[in-house]
Amino acid sequence: EKDGYDWFMRKEIFEQPRAVADTLLGRHDENGALQLDEIRISEEELREVDKIIVIASGTSFYAGMVAKYAIEHWTRIACEVELASEFRYRDPILTRSTLVVAISQSGETADTLMAIRHAREQRAKVLAICNTNGSTIPRESDAVIYTHAGPEIGVASTKGFTTQLVACYLLGLYLAQVRGTRYGDEIAQVVDQIQHVPDKIQQVLDRAEEIYGLARRLADSRSVLFLGRHVGYPVALEGALKLKELAYIHAEGFAAGELKHGPIALVEDQLPVFCVVPPRGRDFLHDKMISGIQEVRARGARTIVLAEEGDAVVEPYADVLIRLPRVPTLLQPLLSVIPLQLFALELAAHKGLDVDQPRNLAKSVTVE
Ligand code: F6R
Repeated sequence: EKDGYDWFMRKEIFEQPRAVADTLLGRHDENGALQLDEIRISEEELREVDKIIVIASGTSFYAGMVAKYAIEHWTRIACEVELASEFRYRDPILTRSTLVVAISQSGETADTLMAIRHAREQRAKVLAICNTNGSTIPRESDAVIYTHAGPEIGVASTKGFTTQLVACYLLGLYLAQVRGTRYGDEIAQVVDQIQHVPDKIQQVLDRAEEIYGLARRLADSRSVLFLGRHVGYPVALEGALKLKELAYIHAEGFAAGELKHGPIALVEDQLPVFCVVPPRGRDFLHDKMISGIQEVRARGARTIVLAEEGDAVVEPYADVLIRLPRVPTLLQPLLSVIPLQLFALELAAHKGLDVDQPRNLAKSVTVE
């Protein structure tokens, strides 16, 4: 059932072009207009939503962080994102016009389940993004968008994450369509760009050997840092989480702009630092990221730079350069996370660890 792969996780990473395509399937018409009839919340109610709170745990929480950037940009609805384990123990401000979005691959995570119960008690509407048909979280929600990743067996989430991102993008675009904050052509354009992502993920996967080689070269690292900005920041956090949980290496993800507020003190000679560089847009993000990379290099870090094809500016600052196909900034996490998954997987496998079943972890965390 591993289809010739040594680990489920490796198989699941390589399934991502298919999983992402399946999650898009049937959810838009040929003109790019979204059809999410499965959201059983009426358009009228969706127009009344004045606040969105995304709740989730672990990797799903990082998908939620990306969702916040996309949803606010496309819909102009204020969107917060919070760890389920924190949300459930505070006194959040929720009303009938609050939409709570619960993201859970398994649909059984206790913290996330308790958080949606907490939200529903206060009459907020709850929409689940989930990969497991008929699991508890969608059953207890008002509506659900299923991700079509197929069963995820490896404990570390991979295709679960990328398909959650797709579901979040679809939700944001659908809300924009219903509320009229973005118009037909614009929505169709983004849908079209997402439709090209499976091929682009495949291009990243086709270069897996480069990442495997890097993982083996860095297998003795005691600590690894990951830097990103904007939607690259949650990707940095996800890269660090994957490395911790699979390879038991100390790893931290930081927002690159925060370096000077403390973390830069950690940088010492030869420290590997992954840097997720946003596409060269019209904004300052790209340049700001480059200056972050310069700061760590000046202190002796070895930089592994993920940047889009054709970005020549990054070249002098990269000890290792990983190229990503071109996509708009908001969609880049679908591509930039792939090398980080491959890196953690290969490093753990190289160390002889149990990739599918890391120590101390369970696939669905049904206890607090
Ligand atoms: C990390 C990982 C976990 C889960 C988290 C939430 O690789 O898999 O951090 O993302 O336990 O699980 P779900 O999405 O099932 O609620």
